[in-house]
Amino acid sequence: MRTAVFRKANFNSAHRLHNPQLDDKTNEALFGLCNNPNYHGHNYDLIVKLIGEINPQTGYVFDMKILNDIIKEEIIERFDHKNLNMDTVEFKNLNPTAENIARIIYELLRSKIEVKYELEITLYETPRNYVVYPVK
Ligand code: NI
Repeated sequence: MRTAVFRKANFNSAHRLHNPQLDDKTNEALFGLCNNPNYHGHNYDLIVKLIGEINPQTGYVFDMKILNDIIKEEIIERFDHKNLNMDTVEFKNLNPTAENIARIIYELLRSKIEVKYELEITLYETPRNYVVYPVK
């Protein structure tokens, strides 16, 4: 009876990809437009996947209203309309790549969702670039 349920969400954030240990030229070569010194924005699409047993009493795997509230409180309020590098503690010293953002989102949600549920994060940075964390 294990079933996957999904909730989609969206947030807009600014970022700059930059490794302070590398020189400007190398950073530009590595990160291209995402290295723009004055930052730039992305429209991030988030898909949160939970896997669990169907509760016979409710017929639900997880109450989607509660999942939506957790995503709102932990992710949207923290990152939406923020400059990830400047406005968040999570990315003060961590390059805000889609990979790292997905991992941080996973950790933030993992701490609020019982371990009996499997959790997987899909994060679209652009319609054609997306990452999945964790990978089994
Ligand atoms: Ni970018």
